[in-house]
Amino acid sequence: MKRQRVLSGVQPTGNLHIGNYFGAIRNWVENQSNYDNFFCVVDLHAITVPHNPQTLAEDTYTIAALYLACGIDLEYATIFVQSHVSAHSELAWLLNCITPLNWLERMIQFKEKAVKQGENVSVGLLDYPVLMAADILLYEADKVPVGEDQKQHLELTRDIAARLNDKFGNKDEQILKIPAPLISKEGARVMSLTDGTSKMSKSDPADLSRINLLDSPELIQKKIKRCKTDPVKGLTFDDPERPECNNLLTLYGLFSGKSKAEVAAECEEMGWGQFKPLLTDTAIAALKPIQEKYQQIREEKGYLDSVLHSGKEKAQTVANQTLLRVKNALGYLPPL
Ligand code: TYM
Repeated sequence: MKRQRVLSGVQPTGNLHIGNYFGAIRNWVENQSNYDNFFCVVDLHAITVPHNPQTLAEDTYTIAALYLACGIDLEYATIFVQSHVSAHSELAWLLNCITPLNWLERMIQFKEKAVKQGENVSVGLLDYPVLMAADILLYEADKVPVGEDQKQHLELTRDIAARLNDKFGNKDEQILKIPAPLISKEGARVMSLTDGTSKMSKSDPADLSRINLLDSPELIQKKIKRCKTDPVKGLTFDDPERPECNNLLTLYGLFSGKSKAEVAAECEEMGWGQFKPLLTDTAIAALKPIQEKYQQIREEKGYLDSVLHSGKEKAQTVANQTLLRVKNALGYLPPL
């Protein structure tokens, strides 16, 4: 039987943090053998907010290398760079023209990011979810594994696909496949180390708010030492008054592979002075193999280029077929 298709991606804005890992990449790795996977580095999305042209290419390599270092296996997955497959931009334009403006104005992430940008909000930031829809729909993805924060964008993708099918397709043959989100229960929303009520995020100016996958052991130790806690003795999950406690226990469970019940039992009597070193050691040990593999990949000259080159070829073949189907449905004169 043909395996179902998965597509997902991460923006190359600096480093990846453990929210990206537990919310997305770890799930890609765990489920990869069940699917035909496409994982892209979404560099076109990275310029929807002001970006640094000096670091964009290097950041793109970093993310691709991290995919591999986290365990993405090329036997099951194609890794490629979004801007290398021009069909993404082209389909985004076609979808733009059938997407009502007010669907985009409703997007929570747009509203949050727009507030931070003040006067400088670009059209690209508003249009970001349409490009994301193009990414997904081009590959006829059945499943899209993401963190909780992307759920609304997935719903929009489904609405855009349904609208295009409805307007230009017929009952027997849908033009675009409607994808489903794949959001894991654990790790779908990792919170900031400095504020347990806000999401861990690459765009938070405070680096102390997140643990990056490539942070040194010393830095991880420092971040956990300084992270926000509370004066209560005994550590418990799910207390609305103690969001930091819930987040740190969750992280301990994710890093150690222990269940919620196991963590709850182990930590119920602990104070922060005992828990923080435990979390630190567990985090450092869990990230070590990823960091070592990452260094190896970066040292192997030419390897990443060859991965991204063959990824582009495979991605292009699939994407161009969908693009052609959409253009035909919209009535375009084929190239002469
Ligand atoms: P990005 O680069 O912001 O995040 C990449 C992935 O990490 C997840 N994530 C989190 N999960 C748990 N806790 C957190 N604190 C946390 N922060 C981020 C995100 O949900 C995401 O899965 N728009 C997307 C990239 C994208 C994409 C796509 C994803 C573009 N095209 C097509 C899937 C399919 C984004 O900006 O992710």
